[in-house]
Amino acid sequence: MQTVEIAAQSQSAFVIAAENYTQSSAREALLTRAMGLKWKRKSSQKLRRGRRPSEGLAFIARNADGVLAGTVRLWDVATGNGRPALLLGPLAVEPSLNSTGIGKALMSHAISEPKRLGHKVILLVGDSAYYERFGFSSAKTGALSMPGPYERDRFLALELVPGALDGARGTLKATGRKAKLVDVRAAA
Ligand SMILES: CC(C)(COP(=O)(O)OP(=O)(O)OC[C@H]1O[C@@H](n2cnc3c(N)ncnc32)[C@H](O)[C@@H]1OP(=O)(O)O)[C@@H](O)C(=O)NCCC(=O)NCCS
Repeated sequence: MQTVEIAAQSQSAFVIAAENYTQSSAREALLTRAMGLKWKRKSSQKLRRGRRPSEGLAFIARNADGVLAGTVRLWDVATGNGRPALLLGPLAVEPSLNSTGIGKALMSHAISEPKRLGHKVILLVGDSAYYERFGFSSAKTGALSMPGPYERDRFLALELVPGALDGARGTLKATGRKAKLVDVRAAA
């Protein structure tokens, strides 16, 4: 994957790049600064724990010195009746850099790359007020559920192929590659 420069209104230049798993500690620290420890307790985490992100679908934003500014990952899941999908998250940006366009650039990438790779659906649990600008809505998630507590109106989907969620139902299950012991820290 080529790096992509972010047209951010920030003072430094940032790029979006494939995540390098040696950045795991910095990424976890960023997630905790952005969200507190709740990112570790979400229902989505049940679908991520012990798995690796979908092939080629873990991205970071960083500055020219390699300092991490944001992170997003996508995970392989299937609906209860066996439809493949991606689960997006966590998405987070370094708090001091909020509202400079890094979240938008990460999301643009987290949508265009799966589309290019032939994925059909992205699901997530998050604020619709943020994600609706990227085309996500709860309109197609009524017959689906997460494997744990979540707020139904925050369970959102984006069809990369129109109609891909028609007939999809049931509780999501993890289908991603199992994490090896050495990269277990990467599986969050
Ligand atoms: C959500 C988040 C990733 C956005 O990143 P960002 O780089 O600040 O986003 P952008 O610069 O692309 O966009 C900023 C815009 O999103 C809006 N926004 C940010 N978070 C929002 C939210 N939870 N709900 C609605 N709008 C939100 C900002 O108000 C701003 O609006 P504007 O463009 O009208 O001024 C970042 O705020 C973050 O890391 N938050 C904490 C982690 C988190 O909650 N992640 C999951 C989101 S549900």
